[in-house]
Amino acid sequence: MISKTMEEALNKQVNREYYSAYLYLAMSVYFESVNMKGFASWMRVQAKEEHAHGDKFLDYLMARGGKVTLGDIEAPKAKWASAGKVFEEVYAHEQKVTGMINTLVDLAIKEKDHATFEMLQWFVKEQVEEEKNSSEILEQIKIVGDVPGHLFYLDHHLGKRE
Ligand code: FEO
Repeated sequence: MISKTMEEALNKQVNREYYSAYLYLAMSVYFESVNMKGFASWMRVQAKEEHAHGDKFLDYLMARGGKVTLGDIEAPKAKWASAGKVFEEVYAHEQKVTGMINTLVDLAIKEKDHATFEMLQWFVKEQVEEEKNSSEILEQIKIVGDVPGHLFYLDHHLGKRE
């Protein structure tokens, strides 16, 4: 059985993961609107990953006999100034999520909740990847130049993500 404090904290994280999915879906829609199909497709895959993260927390909560409480998901914004601005936000968002995961790990340690600590290690590793991927794309945009016409090759490359 999971403690009430941990249950509440994990429910909050379920919400934040689904919010991440919603945010990346909004970014995908934005990229579609400016005809950057590869970026749009990359973001759609990313949104699905975030949905899977939410599911992972939710399934874990249920497996531990916790109560799942699905709250409102904050609406993301719909417009960005450029691809670079989108990825600045993605990178910042992922760093924020890393902070949330670390806070959950701290709580698991404090509560001597070894099962939750172990489950969270998957997310600790995942956040290393998430930060790396978003910062690499941000750097690539900076190298190519943050202008739609210049981003054609990168758009093609990102569109290959499955
Ligand atoms: Fe669920 Fe992008 O971290």
